[in-house]
Amino acid sequence: MDLLVVGSGLFGLTIAERAAASGRKVTIIDRRDHIGGNAFSEDDPDTGIEVHRYGAHLFHTSNPSVWEYVNRFTSFTNYTHRVYTTHRGVVYPLPINLGTINQFFRAALSPDEARALVREQAGEFDPSGAANLEEKAIALIGRPLYEAFIRDYTAKQWQTDPRDLPAEIISRLPVRYNYDNRYFNDRWEGLPVDGYTAWLTRMADHPNIDVSLGTDFFDEAQPFNKAATVGQVPIVYTGAVDRYFDYSAGELSWRTLDFERAVVPVSDFQGTSVMNYADRDVPFTRIHEFRHFHPERADRYPSDRTVIVREYSRFASRADEPYYPVNTPADRAGLLAYRELAKGEADVYFGGRLGTYQYLDMHMAIGAALSMWSNRLA
Ligand code: FDA
Repeated sequence: MDLLVVGSGLFGLTIAERAAASGRKVTIIDRRDHIGGNAFSEDDPDTGIEVHRYGAHLFHTSNPSVWEYVNRFTSFTNYTHRVYTTHRGVVYPLPINLGTINQFFRAALSPDEARALVREQAGEFDPSGAANLEEKAIALIGRPLYEAFIRDYTAKQWQTDPRDLPAEIISRLPVRYNYDNRYFNDRWEGLPVDGYTAWLTRMADHPNIDVSLGTDFFDEAQPFNKAATVGQVPIVYTGAVDRYFDYSAGELSWRTLDFERAVVPVSDFQGTSVMNYADRDVPFTRIHEFRHFHPERADRYPSDRTVIVREYSRFASRADEPYYPVNTPADRAGLLAYRELAKGEADVYFGGRLGTYQYLDMHMAIGAALSMWSNRLA
């Protein structure tokens, strides 16, 4: 073995694929019973509809090298993501755009009129003096739009009143003064034609790659554990950086999600893939209806039932799946301490969202892995 990769998410798979293609023998371990990390998907047992087990994953990128690279393993559909939100029994398009504004104010404002209205409503606070997230958001988009679309949704995401959240959580709240409600602005966007797992499996399908699932790097009873491998073989580590150092500089905090799946006996539950729920009296943040991610599969998917997933957000404990870094000042201090410790680990390379304590979209994880490979490992 020339390289051990801990974690088979997109970061680890990209490193392993590049190393194998250049003739290195690679072992990938993952403590889960499947490869692919959080991008993993599977067919729902009751409907056959592809469900993303760790939350909806939409691929998008403007990076030509990443786009060229991923297309070696899969082609992509022409799905374009759009999100709607329900507020007080009415559905509005997101991100906040001219359609949202005109529907909300029951008006027919032109782009300039809408801009002037939002500017006037935002005059309540100066963004540079905002003491908390609420004041910052009002300074950016005004109180009426904030209270309708941001306040309760943010409170549900963070389980915290926005007046108790730091202003820095948001730097901007995009408002579009036209009717464009495409969610992503990237040059390329789509979903893997035959699913995420087919894509991820192809990345690991190389005679130089061995995959060992159900294998935890910290379990000394298992092969390829930390004590047996560090210093013996180069390691790319994509697990949690605080866990690697035994939480010696404190535990980094994360938010997690709970997913509640239901099969509903209708052909179409909500007419779109993602519906947010902006109000506090609805406990979940959004509902995903997975059939809508693949309209081109309509003839393969059942017409008498559909699978939906309600999403709830909360702070993670050590036993939960870590999804979004919370990034408090204590977390940032801890991360700096771990980065110093990481420098002392000869031939261990920390990468991916857990290894660097950063939210990374898929294209960012792949791009970072391609750079690590060519700049530090190749
Ligand atoms: P990832 O978490 O995927 O993989 C890490 C792997 O390491 C896991 O498989 C884990 O089991 C393994 N591991 C950890 N500790 C270990 C140990 N001790 N021993 C062995 N194995 C260990 N991106 C995007 O582009 N579009 C989107 O729509 C979304 N949507 C989205 C929704 C949600 C809810 C989340 C949380 C994330 C997204 N993402 C996304 C981001 C996407 O999931 C992310 O870019 C990739 O997961 C990053 O891949 P990594 O390899 O870094 O981590």
